[in-house]
Amino acid sequence: MSSGAGQLDVARVRGLFPGLSDGLLHADGPAGALVPESVVRAVSQAMRVPIAERGGVFAASARAEQLVSGARSALADMVGGMPSGVVLGPNTTSLTYALARALAKHWRRGDEIVVSRLDHDANIRPWLQVAEQVGMTVKWAEVDIETGELPDWQYDELLTDRTRLVAVTAASNAIGTCPDVAAIALRAHRVGALVYVDGAHAAAHTLLDVDVLGADFLAVSAYKWGGPHVGAVIAHPGLLDELRPDKLAPASDRVPDRFETGAPSYELYAGVAASVDHLAALCPDVSGTRRQRLTASMAAVGRYEAEVFDWLSDALRSMAHVQVIGSPQYRTPTLSFTVSRMRPRQVSTELARRGVCAWDGDFYSRELFDALGVNEAGGAVRLGLMHYNTPEEVGHLIDHVSAFR
Ligand SMILES: Cc1ncc(COP(=O)(O)O)c(C=O)c1O
Repeated sequence: MSSGAGQLDVARVRGLFPGLSDGLLHADGPAGALVPESVVRAVSQAMRVPIAERGGVFAASARAEQLVSGARSALADMVGGMPSGVVLGPNTTSLTYALARALAKHWRRGDEIVVSRLDHDANIRPWLQVAEQVGMTVKWAEVDIETGELPDWQYDELLTDRTRLVAVTAASNAIGTCPDVAAIALRAHRVGALVYVDGAHAAAHTLLDVDVLGADFLAVSAYKWGGPHVGAVIAHPGLLDELRPDKLAPASDRVPDRFETGAPSYELYAGVAASVDHLAALCPDVSGTRRQRLTASMAAVGRYEAEVFDWLSDALRSMAHVQVIGSPQYRTPTLSFTVSRMRPRQVSTELARRGVCAWDGDFYSRELFDALGVNEAGGAVRLGLMHYNTPEEVGHLIDHVSAFR
């Protein structure tokens, strides 16, 4: 695979990841990507100098302020949002719970919420639980069990003037499906509903844009693309201003600060900014603003990943003893499969023996796997490619899975 302007030089990229020195084949990216050296350095540099809380008059406090604003502006660039609309927190799950609780204060018995069977439980369970507390009706968007697609036309039936929120993923972390979120959001907005998009899996593979998606809230987790374990929800600051999350009395009431409880992981925020800079620099010959460079580099990541993934996917589908789940048209380089006469745990154990890191189970996409009937047999095995995986590795994956015949 050649490298040139706007193309990914995978050999160079691999040199940026100290974790690759373990010599293993990392096909476990959807559960958390490897971390580039620049991110490791940024976090340790941040910890070498004093950091205090924000709001003081001395240098260590100013540093904390800089770390927060650095992470917010990086994440805003990552998703085309505004830094003042970036709520930082530990992870997508915790932030979604916090937003669900804050939004529920505006909802009434009989209001409706629409969740999707394609989603990770992080974008289902918090909504189901607040819906139960408030007495709301929950409606489900279903997945086509053959293709693994989430058809957007079904939302015409699901949405009413009582719908308050539609929760949907930008990509399935289990089977890779990228639903047409923009088409779903358009329908949701027509009835005045808010749209909460889970971008945790998608963000590592495609450049998300809150406006293009039509997302009122977009949740992401930096550890999915090479950052530290920090999450964020990006929303319009005006929308955040309407919400009153539970918070301590002395804590700032400004937006987005009012959503961030307690002392945050300041040092990790340095790594968040570095991880976005890492992605923005993947095509070093491209110049421009960080968002422009991200646009070019994520396009290169998408092209590269699609090329190697198609080979993997086609090869696995051609094996009589392998069942690949779903065949969505738009997807990330992530797939789940089962092997005839082997439990998924057996397959992942055999892969681990051969030096491959791969997950088995339901990957918290429990509703999806229950609907597909794969949970009864222990779920599936997941292979997920990242921008540091090589064609050689894909060749090895194919050989290993082929050997389970
Ligand atoms: C699509 C998706 N949504 C949500 C989550 C949960 O993210 P977090 O671990 O940051 O709470 C994950 C993590 O696996 C995910 O892949």
